[in-house]
Amino acid sequence: LSFAGEHYFANGTTALAVALRVRAGQGGRIAIPAAVCPNVPAAVLASGNDFVLVDIDGASGGMSPTALVACIGRQGVAGVIAVHAYGNPCDVPGLAAVCRDADLPLIEDCAQAEGAECGGRPVGSFGDVAVFSYGAGKILDLGGGGMTCTADAALAGRIAAAAADLPETPDESAADDLAAIYKFLYNRFFPGRLVDYGDWLRTALFRLGPAMLGRLGGAGPDAVREARATLPRRVARRRAKAARYREALAGQSYLAVPLAVEGAVPWRFNVRLEAGLRDRVLKRMLADGRKVSSWYPSLDYFLGASDADELPQARADSLTLLNLWLDDDTGEAEIAETCAEVLRLVAEEAA
Ligand SMILES: Cc1ncc(COP(=O)(O)O)c(C=O)c1O
Repeated sequence: LSFAGEHYFANGTTALAVALRVRAGQGGRIAIPAAVCPNVPAAVLASGNDFVLVDIDGASGGMSPTALVACIGRQGVAGVIAVHAYGNPCDVPGLAAVCRDADLPLIEDCAQAEGAECGGRPVGSFGDVAVFSYGAGKILDLGGGGMTCTADAALAGRIAAAAADLPETPDESAADDLAAIYKFLYNRFFPGRLVDYGDWLRTALFRLGPAMLGRLGGAGPDAVREARATLPRRVARRRAKAARYREALAGQSYLAVPLAVEGAVPWRFNVRLEAGLRDRVLKRMLADGRKVSSWYPSLDYFLGASDADELPQARADSLTLLNLWLDDDTGEAEIAETCAEVLRLVAEEAA
């Protein structure tokens, strides 16, 4: 994958905020998927825009083009962020067609999906600007760093100018604080009670998003370029780990709709459990220190940013999704153990 212009930033949040500011301007509403990492709305707010939530499709976990059309019909939208969630390519050809028809900027967020392909074409090559992250737990984990790519030379020039205006070094604790806040909330309250913490999250997004913005200096850009050369190996490793999960959990009815799409680079291995059962299994696994999570609950639970009736898939996934981890430090033995534990707990809790 090669682009006319690549620019490096302190993190993916900065890359996303800069892409928005340069391509979509300020003071508008940006459509984002409802079930998404909170760094995405944080970046929207830091860019000087507000966000509006759009439902996801059940196959990829990414924004639904049909829901986007409905959202555009309801209210003015100044731009769209297509997120490739969990390593799955979203229906970005469909979203790009909607954006073309409506003459809207399309930013492609590949933070969780570097190396994935959609119809044989790399993610990041469909939007006006693509955004990548090299933060903790990402496909290429460098502990930090972000990048924008665009094939548009004029846009690349404006991104370079915007980058020069950023602080040399961001407040590193801002990124850590935001992640700590939402992970705490997700792991502790699950969706139903998150509404009580909406003000806390909104304040955190407003304050911490802007504090995260910064350039990537020193050896950072070289480290990113070096890491990208190892991408095929990393992708193969993640796919092999996902295959272990799939084999160990084969034949289970709750795997009927795994979020695993052709061309994906698995970032998490997702399964769906019945509402209620998911919470009981998750709680016990978290108490045991297992690498599982329930991301991403629909942001409207916290923020009331949209009518929940318009977000049926994001709402349903909030209650049923269980993410099994397959990061670099998750070994095959650990995967086998996690699967055995899922099977045991489901049998016990469902009884
Ligand atoms: C989908 C998505 N977009 C953007 C980001 C922001 O990346 P970073 O953590 O490098 O700021 C993340 C991760 O946090 C993410 O998961």
